[in-house]
Amino acid sequence: MESAPLETDQDLLAELRALLAGESDPIANAANTAALLFNRVGRLNWVGFYFLQGETLVLGPFQGQPACTRIPLGRGVCGTAAAAGETIVVPDVHEFPGHIVCDTASLSEIVVPLALPGRLSGVLDVDSPERSRFGPAERALFEAAADIYVEACTPRA
Ligand code: SME
Repeated sequence: MESAPLETDQDLLAELRALLAGESDPIANAANTAALLFNRVGRLNWVGFYFLQGETLVLGPFQGQPACTRIPLGRGVCGTAAAAGETIVVPDVHEFPGHIVCDTASLSEIVVPLALPGRLSGVLDVDSPERSRFGPAERALFEAAADIYVEACTPRA
């Protein structure tokens, strides 16, 4: 019997696109995005969203252990990525000054800003219990997932 082919990142992104198709609610889409990524990408212990309210990132839908609810812009990995408007990959969280510990099992982290047209709306945060879990392929995957999320939540003119 032939074994099923391994799921590729492109398959997973196509599945995310299909999952979010026809829904523009940011909370519903964040919940499904977090659930899909958490359950289908290996060796992760936290996947979730923080949304910007004023100068503070506030916890949104996630999968994993309970997490801190508010992160000021510029603080932690999430606040730093949001303030810079750029993805941050942290191979070892113990070496990132100001890293905010939510789950002591987390050893590496990637944070992708969510750029709605003309403004930052929040971040997608992904943690792993493995050091150096996130390389260029993972960065491309989570940036593409964030783009699909933003696109789904952007109302058409
Ligand atoms: N480690 C993050 C905080 C969020 S948790 O990892 C879920 C940070 O330093 O911003």
